[in-house]
Amino acid sequence: MTDQTTLPLYLRGRFAPVPEEYDTADLTVRGSLPPDLDGRYLRNGPNPLPGEDKGHWFTGPGMLHGIRLRGGRAEWYRNRWIRTRELEGHPFVRRDGSVDLAATPANTHVIRHADTVLALCEVGLPYWVTPELETVGPYDFGGRLRTAMTAHPKEDPVTGELHLFGTGFAPPYLTYHRVTAEGELLDSRPIDVPGPTMMHDFAITEHHIVWMDLPVVFDPSLAGRGGMPYQWDEGYGARLGVMSRTPGSTDVRWYDIDPCYVFHVGNAHEDAQGRIVLDAVRYDPVGFQHAWGDIGGPTGLGGLAVVPEPGHSQAPSVLHRWTLDPATGRVAESELDDRAAEFPTHNETLTGRPNRYLYTVSGDGIVKHDLTRHTGQIHETPGSRFAGEAVFVPAADGTGEDEGWLLSLISNDDGEAGELLVLDAAELSVQAVVELPHPVPAGFHGSWLPERP
Ligand SMILES: [Fe+2]
Repeated sequence: MTDQTTLPLYLRGRFAPVPEEYDTADLTVRGSLPPDLDGRYLRNGPNPLPGEDKGHWFTGPGMLHGIRLRGGRAEWYRNRWIRTRELEGHPFVRRDGSVDLAATPANTHVIRHADTVLALCEVGLPYWVTPELETVGPYDFGGRLRTAMTAHPKEDPVTGELHLFGTGFAPPYLTYHRVTAEGELLDSRPIDVPGPTMMHDFAITEHHIVWMDLPVVFDPSLAGRGGMPYQWDEGYGARLGVMSRTPGSTDVRWYDIDPCYVFHVGNAHEDAQGRIVLDAVRYDPVGFQHAWGDIGGPTGLGGLAVVPEPGHSQAPSVLHRWTLDPATGRVAESELDDRAAEFPTHNETLTGRPNRYLYTVSGDGIVKHDLTRHTGQIHETPGSRFAGEAVFVPAADGTGEDEGWLLSLISNDDGEAGELLVLDAAELSVQAVVELPHPVPAGFHGSWLPERP
């Protein structure tokens, strides 16, 4: 048996990869699964092959975990590696220095748009998979997507369009793309940014795209050594940019902000005064470097992501609000909650529009943030159990913003089997727990795919 203590943090405990693929039918359910949950919950995350260490949590090959719910039952669970070119041994960077966008680990997110299920990772093309988790192949929107694709595209709930971007190591460092509700990529625009930053997410509002140009930058001297060749660059500065969604527009108005890093956006909207309000999980420089070091990134720092520095009062990453005022060019910043936070989610029928509730994962549970009352409520997952991203599913007959369910995979630090936790989002109470047949590693992002969209 492997000595767990010698393994990096991202390969042991709740992060430990599973060694094989499983199929299990008729899972045990505690509590009562709502009958209107008819569909599949899919979640993606890195799962290195047995004995493999890719050098960074973010670079392990993607594995999908899927659970089929119908009629109050959990019909099946299965897990599958995504059969990418990378998994077959083709390197992302070829010997001649060119990049094979199809050799992505495809390990970060899984979405469905225009009836196509896509596994996403920001360094390359999406991978098309079936609702049963079998890999079809790399997907480039009929040859129109010629850049990588973010793992965090945004579907507008009114127009049905999918907004996305791709980043590259060489100019253009950033390209915006728009895909119609029917799945046709229509609009690609290079966006002028000064360098190849690690842009993991962005935001949309009703009329705008919001960019985050932050000081974690590609360092060519680190490339080819395994792991993630990005590090904090104090001299880069930090800016948020606002660009019109109007087709053809590439002008971006930039707003300088205090240096920070953001992996994940909660949501954004335009307020009554025409200001752009962005809610996201913010890492201060020290918090970022500790978290980055823990998962394999180059920082020169060690330590635990959740332990604040002496004299450093806040958690490394917290929910934060930026308000950008086009009338004055000024930015207001405020902390929305002082709890450690990651993986923000919301009711996606309100993407780009004002929302009252955000959900995040803290070290000890799932937090529901009420942005109107400035309060937070936690559902604790004590002991060795850790909740993954909580995906909000609207109730079939619900009208209130928080009428629905939160789906979250529970991973264990002690090798216990995983669970799918179903919370009533309004009450933040346990509705049901689906018992899974083996441990599920802590991973990244997932989606609920209703049977009848
Ligand atoms: Fe992400």
